[in-house]
Parts: sequence; C-alpha cells; structure tokens
Amino acid sequence: MSGEIKTVGVLTSGGDAPGMNAAIRAVVRKSLNNGLKVKGIKKGYLGLLNEEIVDMGAFSVSDIIQRGGTILGTARCLEFKEEEVQAKAADICRKHGIDGLVVIGGDGSYRGAQALARQGINTIGIPGTIDLDIACTDYTIGFDTAINTAMEAIDKVRDTSSSHERCSIIEVMGRNAGYIALWCGVACGAEDVLLPEKYDFNEQTLVNNIIANRKKGKTHHLIINAEGIGHSTSMARRIEAATGIETRATILGYMQRGGSPTCKDRYYASIMGAYAADILAEGKTKRAVCYRNGQFIDYDIEEALNMTKTINPYQYEVSRLLSRNESV
Ligand code: ADP
Ligand code: F6P
Repeated sequence: MSGEIKTVGVLTSGGDAPGMNAAIRAVVRKSLNNGLKVKGIKKGYLGLLNEEIVDMGAFSVSDIIQRGGTILGTARCLEFKEEEVQAKAADICRKHGIDGLVVIGGDGSYRGAQALARQGINTIGIPGTIDLDIACTDYTIGFDTAINTAMEAIDKVRDTSSSHERCSIIEVMGRNAGYIALWCGVACGAEDVLLPEKYDFNEQTLVNNIIANRKKGKTHHLIINAEGIGHSTSMARRIEAATGIETRATILGYMQRGGSPTCKDRYYASIMGAYAADILAEGKTKRAVCYRNGQFIDYDIEEALNMTKTINPYQYEVSRLLSRNESV
C-alpha cells in the first residue's frame, strides 16, 4: 500500500533485548505527536494472530525507558512463515484499523515485516537483538547492554580465576554470531576467543597456549566461548586433563539479555523509534531503520536482508594478539 497512515501498530518479536522499551516509547510518542493513533500488539506475530491488541496513549509508555525486556512481550511464531497466515495477519491489522506497523526485532522479524508489506500493510523494521548480527546496521538495540553485563560478569570470574590460578572458559550468548564474544574478549583481555564464524579452531592449540602462558607466569587463562561453539563444560574437562591446570566453565546465559539498558541503548533505540514513526507517517513502507557510518538511515528491507556482514579479520587478529605477553 503506502500512502496516508492513520493508525500505527507496534510489536516486538524474536529474542527480547534491553532498549526495546525505549524504542516502543519513542514509536508511541512520536506517532501521537504526528497526529496518529497507536496500538500495541502483544507477543509479536503470535499476539497479532490472536488479536492481542491494545490502544496506547502517551501515559501507557511512562516509566519504561529504564526497564529491560519488552512491555509488549515477545514470541516466536513459526507459522508466520506461511503465506495464508500472513494474509490472515494483514486482515487482522485492517480489522483493527492498523495501516502501518513498526516491527522491533532481528532478521527473522524483518522477514515477517516484509511479508506483511507484500500483503498491503506498511511496515518498518527496527533492529532489536543483542547479537549485533543484522548486516545493514552497525548498531542493534541491546548489544551495548549485553556486552557491558557480560563484561562485568567476566571481570568477576577473572578475579577468582586468578586467585586460584585456574583456567576459565566463559560462555557468552551468540548462537550464530560472535560479536558479543569478540567484544568481551577484547574488553576483558581474554587469552582466547572462540567464535561461531571461526568454527575450525584447534583445541590442541588452546592447550598449547595455556601451557605456554603458565610457563611465562600468567596466573589465569581466560577463554571466551560463544554459545554457537558451546560445550564449555566438556571442553573444560578435556583442557584440565590435557594441561593439568584446574579449569572451570561458566555459562552466563540469559542474564545477558536482561537488565536496565545502557545510556547508548536508550538513546539509539529512542532515535530509531522516532525515525521509524516519522518515515511511516511519510508513507514509506518495507523499510529497515539502520545506523551506519554515524547516520540514522533506512534501507529497503529486501536489500537489507540481502546484505551480509562478518567478523572483521583485523579486529579478530588484534583480539588474539593483545593478550599474548610476548615482546616479539
Ligand atoms: P529474530 O527476529 O530475532 O531474528 P526469529 O528468527 O526467531 O528472531 O524470528 C522472529 C519471528 O519472526 C519468528 O518467530 C516468526 O514469527 C517471524 N519470522 C521469522 N522468519 C520468517 C519468515 N521467513 N517469514 C515470515 N516470518 C518470519
Ligand atoms: O537474542 C539473541 C539470542 O540471545 C541468541 O544469542 C541466542 O542464540 C538466542 O537468542 C537464544 O534465544 P532463546 O533461547 O530464547 O531461543
């Protein structure tokens, strides 16, 4: 469709991320400011299909900017991949007067937004995922909070690991993407970083590194392992057997997805939410809001989904180099 919008819907979809509430608040308040009505859709595409739709006013988003999670709730809804289900969802939008929809989520959620645009509903995507794995944007909502939460936890594990002269394997989130692992690895001075993008690592090299570092007098050895590699507990057992050095695994898990968003996540999410509300009010559809090269911009969702990104090889190399105590 495209053209004049009267009522904006907003939903969060896929894994939640700290800062989603700031984005919801901005979509709601900027749309109201643009003279439009706003409806909140609970539990992502699942809630849309179940017509869990509520009116939202300026006060309905009071006191949420500092909260983690999403006040709208989120869900995974596999049936949304089916065209007849998408057509039903578009009919539900029309029934509730929703002619424009802001979807806050990851790549999968963007595909749902693209499908709804094909069904005649104007849609805009906002990147919400702690994984930073959306190719069209340098920033995704929640990544900054997640890495800071993980960094604090890793620093704590490092204290006890050094006291006991142990090797520590700390598993961080990222099933398919290693950005959290890479950033935390650099920020926490990890000796080794294991990323799903570099799955072909050699465990014997890890063992050799640990032994060499111990000989040089290092009292701890920190390995940051991404969820996509996993198996941290069994890896710890094997490393301990091979090195003779006590080795412990810590899996940080969902603590990385919760908590009060950082200032950066609140700020970027707020600007992106307002931006989405504005381009929707202008009649744009099938767009993905991004932050690239210092600017907030928007791409066609299809173009955005066709982009690829991967771990920067230089940054990966640096992450390995900086923790080596070698003069040459
Ligand atoms: P994320 O949005 O964080 O990548 P998912 O991949 O789980 O998370 O996707 C979130 C939801 O988006 C899915 O549960 C589903 O409802 C919808 N979705 C995912 N892929 C598609 C697709 N190919 N077509 C339509 N909807 C999709
Ligand atoms: O939100 C992204 C993420 O945390 C990934 O790192 C992870 O693979 C996935 O979500 C796990 O989510 P869940 O266990 O909720 O399916």
